[in-house]
Formats: sequence, structure tokens, C-alpha cells
Amino acid sequence: MGKRQRQLELRALADDDLDEVMEIEPVAFGNHHWSRQSFKNELDNRVGRYYAAVDVEAKQLVGYSGYWLIGGNGGTEAHITTLAVHPDCRRRRIGEVLLINNILTARQEGAKWLTLEVRVSNEKAQNLYFKFGFKNLGIRPHYYQDNSEDALLLWTENIFRPEFLQVFTENLESVKKQIKVNWLAPEELPEEVYDLTEHPVHSQH
Ligand SMILES: CC(C)(COP(=O)(O)OP(=O)(O)OC[C@H]1O[C@@H](n2cnc3c(N)ncnc32)[C@H](O)[C@@H]1OP(=O)(O)O)[C@@H](O)C(=O)NCCC(=O)NCCS
Repeated sequence: MGKRQRQLELRALADDDLDEVMEIEPVAFGNHHWSRQSFKNELDNRVGRYYAAVDVEAKQLVGYSGYWLIGGNGGTEAHITTLAVHPDCRRRRIGEVLLINNILTARQEGAKWLTLEVRVSNEKAQNLYFKFGFKNLGIRPHYYQDNSEDALLLWTENIFRPEFLQVFTENLESVKKQIKVNWLAPEELPEEVYDLTEHPVHSQH
């Protein structure tokens, strides 16, 4: 006790952040990392939503994440395209903060599911997603070009379902005890009634 609560500022990722992003990116993703130009393209991508997490005290960009909002097929899906935390700042729940922010902002924009690909060898990231109730929908064989590694395709099921919300709320409350964060979308559920149908890909099975 007595320790000051850490404070993170979330905001939209901007061009000016790319120097700091490019310090983290190769360490986080190795040979397969995005170039500065890829980030520039993503910042201009109409369906892209990218966010930075800044350590308020250190005034340092400590992580970033983003997704594509994909419509059609009976609902909007948020497909996470990147999520990374500075190697010196890991295991401080910043990854969780970025994921929670993705879920809150995507939900506000009408997303019903989140999906992503993750390397089969990337257990740390898988643990993060499994902690939030993501499930393994299948394998994309040889998805990664650098080493031909397979990807797991993970998804949340419908994020308005009580089973998802319970785990999500527990994780959110637990993170809030440790870090002060300005969430970029409401923590409370929107009032409209939501369709609890499952993802079209999944419901085919
Ligand atoms: C994956 C990553 C984003 C996690 O960020 P982080 O801020 O260190 O993670 P957090 O402190 O928020 O941890 C949240 C959960 O993730 C999992 N996790 C994170 N680091 C882990 C590790 N070293 N070993 C095992 N599980 C780990 C755990 O489930 C953890 O929950 P717990 O602390 O209750 O066990 C970070 O390791 C990273 O940037 N990796 C490189 C980039 C990457 O792989 N991105 C994912 C692409 S899909």
C-alpha cells in the first residue's frame, strides 16, 4: 500500500507516435513485423482503429493495438490486427488494458465479435486472449510467411452474451484496481437490445 496507482492514457494512435512504435514493433514481432509504411497505411485505413497506451508519468508510449471493423454477414466483427507492449513494460497488465479498450470501442461501434490470428507458438498472447474467454475457432495452415507457421483463429463468441460479459467485467474491475485508465468508450453496456446470435462462420457447424 502507499504506492501510487499507475496511470495510462489511451488515445488514437497518430503519425507522431510512429518513431516510438517502430522501437517496439521489431522486438515484439521479429522478422514478420510491420514497416513504418504499413502503420501509415493502417492509420489511413477507413476500417482501421488504432490506439496507443501512454505511461502518463514517464510520458512514454508503452503499447499499441488496433483492429479492422468488418461488416456484413449479419453483424460487425472487430478483427484485431496488432497488439504489442514495450518489452520493458510487460506483465503490468498493459496488454489487458489494450485488449479491454479494443473490446469497449468495438462494442460502441456495433461489433458483436472479436477475432484474430495468433501464432501457434505464441503462448503468452494466447493466454491473454484465453483469459478473456476467446475460443479457438480453427487453424489457418502456414499463415505466417516468414516461417510458414500455422495461426490459430481465435474469436470471442457474441460479446453481449452473459458468459462473455461476466469474465470481461471481472478482468476489467481487476485491472482498474491496479491502473488508472481513461477508457475511450463507455464501460457500461449500451441500452439497446442486442442480437445474441452467434458468428455466421460458427453457426454453420
Ligand atoms: C502478448 C503481450 C501483448 C502481453 O502483454 P503484457 O502487457 O505483458 O500482458 P499483461 O501483463 O496484460 O498480461 C495479461 C495476461 O496475458 C498472459 N501473459 C502475458 N505475458 C505472459 C507470459 N510471459 N507468460 C504467460 N502468459 C502471459 C497471461 O494470461 C496474463 O494474465 P495473468 O497475469 O493473470 O497471468 C506482450 O507479451 C507482447 O507485446 N508480445 C509480443 C507481441 C505479440 O505477441 N502480440 C500478440 C499478437 S496476437
